[in-house]
Amino acid sequence: MSIERVFTQQTRDEEQFLNELRPRRLDDCVGQDAVKEQVRIAVAAARQRGEAMDHVLLDGPPGLGKTTFAHVIAAEMGVAIRVTSGPAITRQGDLMAMLTQMETRQILFVDEIHRLNKVVEEFLYPAMEDFRVDFTSDSGIGGRTVNFSLPRFTLIGATTRSGLLSSALRGRFGHLWHFRHYGQDELTAIIQRSAKLLDVQADAVALQRLALRSRGTPRIANRLLRRARDYADVRGDGVLTAAVVDEALSALEIDQAGLDMLDRQYLLALIQHYDGGPAGIEAIAATLGYERDTLEDVVEPFLLQSGLVTRTPRGRVARPIAYKHLGVKGGPRKGVDLGLFDAE
Ligand SMILES: Nc1ncnc2c1ncn2[C@@H]1O[C@H](COP(=O)(O)OP(=O)(O)OP(=O)(O)O)[C@@H](O)[C@H]1O
Ligand SMILES: [Mg+2]
Repeated sequence: MSIERVFTQQTRDEEQFLNELRPRRLDDCVGQDAVKEQVRIAVAAARQRGEAMDHVLLDGPPGLGKTTFAHVIAAEMGVAIRVTSGPAITRQGDLMAMLTQMETRQILFVDEIHRLNKVVEEFLYPAMEDFRVDFTSDSGIGGRTVNFSLPRFTLIGATTRSGLLSSALRGRFGHLWHFRHYGQDELTAIIQRSAKLLDVQADAVALQRLALRSRGTPRIANRLLRRARDYADVRGDGVLTAAVVDEALSALEIDQAGLDMLDRQYLLALIQHYDGGPAGIEAIAATLGYERDTLEDVVEPFLLQSGLVTRTPRGRVARPIAYKHLGVKGGPRKGVDLGLFDAE
């Protein structure tokens, strides 16, 4: 099995496993205190007035809890949630069918909302703003525009790439909630919670080691726990110890910092092919033979957040700790790593 699969691919079986570990209520969610606080206030206000919550945009890197929170918000509001995604809505009619089924205060969750096509997106504007749709049926001569009014519903959009959203769409959300990577203690708490749900016995050091290598991401934490549990079952007595965790993770080629093969290849390409950068993302993607999107969505967020790489207007730059981490001699070229050009 290739290594990047641990982070990028998801089997059905695994999807179900992760679903079962998903917190259902706000109080079960670990961390994201800023988002949680805003959810609490927005839910309380909407409930007090008996109204729908304002539209919500959840943004942040993959696996941090956007889908989880969409469901949690519905549970806290005590309303039903309908789920769809940007790429699944190809025509106006698809969206029309969903919108006309909505009931007052219900939630429409649109995952990957940055992947909505332009026509559908524009159709969504009046639905979000004025709770009406102008539907043009293309049957018959010239087509006919019919105006429908909709019940007041809440749209929750999720995106890993809020930068790709048009400002027109972004402006129609009342709440913009941003997800951050989780800290070590939070990840430890998440893994502990999952271990309990799975009835896995684990010692404190084992939990901490898993947390340390989870790249600030609950989804990865849960996946690593699953792999480590397999090891514990097969190699030992089912108890998760630090030794079992180390063995499982080194078999997956996940290093001390939680980097996998693809992360290391990315850093090596940047350092060896491009002298540490700056290098454009397209060039790095071509060197590695990966899609630019995969690198931007799955690899870069953690490398940026852990300070191994910075993004400058002229391209990506490897930081000194990246050289150190890989045990490669040298460092960034003079002047490149001054941080003067950081885009973020
Ligand atoms: N705050 C949290 N507390 C505990 N577990 C969490 C939390 N957030 C996420 N998880 C766990 O992490 C897993 C991944 O979360 P989720 O699917 O919500 O991420 P996502 O942000 O929607 O990712 P993507 O962008 O890939 O769709 C969930 O199955 C859940 O078990
Ligand atoms: Mg999701």
